[in-house]
Amino acid sequence: MTVLPAADAPIPIFTTLNEVYGSLATAARHAERWDDLVREFESKFGHKPTYVTRAPGRVNLIGEHIDYADFGVFPAAIEHDILIACAPRSASTAAAHPEGHAPGSVVAENLHTRYARQVFWPTRSHTLGDDVPLDAVRVAPWHLDIDKSELRWESYVKAGYYGVLNHFFSPSSISPVPVPVDILVTGNVPPGSGLSSSAAMVVSSTLAFLAANDIFDGEKAPTKGELVNMAVENERRVGVNSGGMDQSASVIALPGSALYVSFVPSLHAEPIVLPRDAVLVCANSLVVSNKAENAKHQYNLRVVETLAAARLLSHHLNLQVDSADGDNTKRRLVTLREVLGRKSGFYQDEQDAQSEDLVQLQKGLVNMLGNTMDYLLPNFGDRTDISLDEMIQKSGMNEAEFKESYFSGVDVETTNFELYLRARHVFEEALRVLQFREVCLVEGGNEESKLQTLGKLMNDSHDSCDRQFECSHPKVNELVCVARSFKELETGRGKGRIYGSRMTGAGWGGCTVSLIHRDDVEAFIMHVKKKYAPYESMSEEDLASCVFATEPGMGACVFKLTE
Ligand code: GLA
Repeated sequence: MTVLPAADAPIPIFTTLNEVYGSLATAARHAERWDDLVREFESKFGHKPTYVTRAPGRVNLIGEHIDYADFGVFPAAIEHDILIACAPRSASTAAAHPEGHAPGSVVAENLHTRYARQVFWPTRSHTLGDDVPLDAVRVAPWHLDIDKSELRWESYVKAGYYGVLNHFFSPSSISPVPVPVDILVTGNVPPGSGLSSSAAMVVSSTLAFLAANDIFDGEKAPTKGELVNMAVENERRVGVNSGGMDQSASVIALPGSALYVSFVPSLHAEPIVLPRDAVLVCANSLVVSNKAENAKHQYNLRVVETLAAARLLSHHLNLQVDSADGDNTKRRLVTLREVLGRKSGFYQDEQDAQSEDLVQLQKGLVNMLGNTMDYLLPNFGDRTDISLDEMIQKSGMNEAEFKESYFSGVDVETTNFELYLRARHVFEEALRVLQFREVCLVEGGNEESKLQTLGKLMNDSHDSCDRQFECSHPKVNELVCVARSFKELETGRGKGRIYGSRMTGAGWGGCTVSLIHRDDVEAFIMHVKKKYAPYESMSEEDLASCVFATEPGMGACVFKLTE
């Protein structure tokens, strides 16, 4: 039997919940949700769903805000997920709804009563002149309106659909059109909690439209890696220039392993088992952080800062990153990973390389963290932030070129840029990820000391996110302190065994993740519930959804309903 690299495997189609969750016990915990979803679908649409698609959220163990700089990250899928029941709308039901006649029309419902029913359909914008005969074959891209100005639940559904339309349905007016689809969505990944509810929505929606249009039957079916790339592209339509970590974890994860995900030379995911006694506990700070709404001065600004830092370094190091275009220079957006590769002499043509050489990468990172980075500081004064003018002047580009390259595709709001601190975080964090991976891969050895090393790396990662990348939040820091104080607590088996605690995901609110010894998990959860002030008056049931232990879970799948 050939074992396919994780990203090249096909998307699994299951018919039992045991397969979906990778264990009977987990399946049993979710069976009722699935039954409700299928029952409600039938009562809302008058016919049964043919598929349910599932995409889990993720927790990131380490490697924060470095995926879009093209460095490897270390996430795992969690049990919480987004489920979408779907079915093509039959001719008889379609006739009952006026909207049912439009090709590819969608009636989208959400089990959560807060989210109202939505009806939409894609259009093809023909731009041919009037002199073209009406029966000519017209070719125009599919279009769906996605409102980026406010956060709407169906935008994520549309984002998934967009990719399916543009990858699988030819824009020609004589080619087959997508079927009308009914969908019902439910989910228990808390939005804005840093557990990737948005990637889970987009992945699940992409799968639903693929399934309803029968794209899984036959050669066209995408692999897991292709689905990740589509989902990344799709999510950008909602207005966040995210990297590929969340989608990779949601799609490729396997039960029992975290994933080392790398992006150069192409997407690669290596399942890695954590030490035997390691358990991850997530805790929600209850500060909702919405990536899309705050992108201008948070997430997208960090993307621009790291790209600009890469541009300045490439100029300083005299690296050949641009190409000639006639008499002009064709500018590219280089990443910090590319700058490192070129500076260290192992960049070559990355397209041809089979895999990353992690030893070389590690050496390159250590090297990079020397004086070279000082170029990112302003020329005078003690401050670390640099003004727009000085940044442009140090980039080797003229103002128009710089603005066109770095600000035209993305909206950001600031006057001063912290290039030095952001780039330091990226290089240091990339190094920590490699060290984390190495410790997990050591066979045998002392378990306790492995856990301590992993925990220390997680703590350092948090501190860097907070101070250098400035993407934490006072309440998240408070929760991290509460978690870390578990080591002072007498548990009856000695002091509480917490190894590390950090923010997870984009930050600016959301969840923390802590690495705890398996035998101390219950005591740890009780400790956090008692000590984090915002939990004070919450019911036990609500608390259970705020602080929970999680094992690395199964990635996305399609569930085929049988009669
Ligand atoms: C969000 C993005 C990811 C990643 C993290 C930060 O979750 O979607 O691509 O950048 O933030 O590590």
